[in-house]
Amino acid sequence: MRFSRSYFLTLPLAALLACMAERPVTSSARASESELAMPLPKADAPVVTRFAQVVSAHPLASQVGSQVLQRGGTAYDAAVAVQFALAVVLPAAGNIGGGGFLVYLDRNGLAGALDFRETAPAAATRDMYLDPKTGAVVPGLSTDGALAVGTPGTVAGMAALHKRLGKLSWASLVQPAVALAAQGFPLTQKEADGLNRNRAAFLKTNAGRPAPAYLRAATDSTRLWLAGDTLRLPALAAALVRIRDQGRAGFYQGETARLLLKEVQSRRGLLAQKDLDAYQARWRTALRGKYRDYEVIAMPPPSSGGIALLQMLQMLEPVDFPRLGYHAPLAVHALTEAERRAYADRATFLGDPDFGRVPVAKLLDLDYNRYRAGSIRSDGHATPSADVAAGENIPVYESPETTHYCIVDALGNAVSCTTTLNGAYGSHLVVPGAGFILNNEMDDFSAKPGTPNAYGLVGGQANAIGPNKRMLSSMTPTILTRQGKLALVLGTPGGSTIITSVLQAIVGIVDYGLNAQQAAAAPRLHHQWLPDLIDVEAGALLPAAQDTLRQRGYRLNPRSPWGRIDLIRVLPDGRLEGGADPRGDDAAVGY
Ligand code: DON
Repeated sequence: MRFSRSYFLTLPLAALLACMAERPVTSSARASESELAMPLPKADAPVVTRFAQVVSAHPLASQVGSQVLQRGGTAYDAAVAVQFALAVVLPAAGNIGGGGFLVYLDRNGLAGALDFRETAPAAATRDMYLDPKTGAVVPGLSTDGALAVGTPGTVAGMAALHKRLGKLSWASLVQPAVALAAQGFPLTQKEADGLNRNRAAFLKTNAGRPAPAYLRAATDSTRLWLAGDTLRLPALAAALVRIRDQGRAGFYQGETARLLLKEVQSRRGLLAQKDLDAYQARWRTALRGKYRDYEVIAMPPPSSGGIALLQMLQMLEPVDFPRLGYHAPLAVHALTEAERRAYADRATFLGDPDFGRVPVAKLLDLDYNRYRAGSIRSDGHATPSADVAAGENIPVYESPETTHYCIVDALGNAVSCTTTLNGAYGSHLVVPGAGFILNNEMDDFSAKPGTPNAYGLVGGQANAIGPNKRMLSSMTPTILTRQGKLALVLGTPGGSTIITSVLQAIVGIVDYGLNAQQAAAAPRLHHQWLPDLIDVEAGALLPAAQDTLRQRGYRLNPRSPWGRIDLIRVLPDGRLEGGADPRGDDAAVGY
């Protein structure tokens, strides 16, 4: 369907919101609307470097990346080294047993996207998580243990990246991770807490095997990790040595593949050698969109991130955010309604493009998105999600974990990469003798139309399970340019909240003039169509703004902090300004 320009000219969001703000209301009413704005977020000073920078979820991984850059490696070389280092120092999300997406922009303006998303094993079937008698989704099957595991993509992805764009030797890029795993590294407070919190799940999932090294002691539950304890991962070091010495084959064939398949198959998982042999990372054409005077380069399907982000930016471009005020009710209204509409489209249309047609052009059509925005109410009131499209059920949020890193090298090449096991510590299944944790990415499929996954996301046929198919993702590694020059590199974990966190960081920087660290630290809001509520981090909204939003039909859901956004902004003089999310151990390192 084409939407004529006149369609949206009847209802331009900017005019609606502007007229709302300008309505001949009493001056006290006008004053009260702007008084509901939050002050701009406070944050530590950002790290500023002259030539190159890495921002990742762990200081040791950022250091590894920065050292690669300093010895002449490119952003792509550093990405390989950071990915493997994170697989050691960030067990919750860094991985070789998972997958991810990477967007890059080279110094000549050439963009690309690498998809190393997991695939469903060939033996997977559409209804594999349903109870055959009741037809209901069996809780836990798609999230815990061997049946939750998709064919890992990370090692193939890194090998493909290195083959096409790498400069330094592969072995030299994997070696820092080998050293970290073999020698051990001090646990941060957050990682110690995470491992302790997941102790029971590790013990249950790995029952019948020697306790994985991720547990401080197998039998004594008082033996919990403390910050500063050294975590040594000798089996993981051995697996990394095989990858270092044999490349892709060191993971998908030989000893590691044997250990992996033995474990998964002994627990009724579906992975087989033919899945490992068939796995291919895919180069895809990056999406390119526009927001004000920026060009936005984003991840295409099978991530929903790029499409949803570009849709929301198109809907929001007419909005004069500074005029509405930071996190003032009308600004929140605009963000929320754009999010609601984009996530409704996500649930209906998006899935693996290799398995079904994804209407990318339609979803990125400006007229279509302005038409969608045209149904946003001019009086600041919510449109119930039930009126935007159909859906059902209220989700449960799981403790999520994924990780993002940003790299800019001295030549001006940029990498934005988000990588994941899905849930924190993935399926909790550790491969004995190889020491790595397997993903539970299968939960990102829609196990049953309308039944929400761990992130409360619903989907249908487009994201149904199919053999060798990639599950839909929300990961949104993104790069912005301005006047043809690199301007911003960013991304975050957070499951379904990823796309809205990236959106808010872009709006924060572009519209409100935040610096990189403020954008990382800023308290966030999130709406995903279903459930029909706005998640609110502490400090995101003034109490009076919350009252106003409630009066306008919004349900607010206070939620503990989410996301770990990392970004690098290029300053007008060419220096690099890093933003590392204070919610995690994230760190910016460069020179
Ligand atoms: O691909 C996705 O959308 C999810 N598997 C990402 C999970 C995630 O971000 C969890 N992080 N906090």
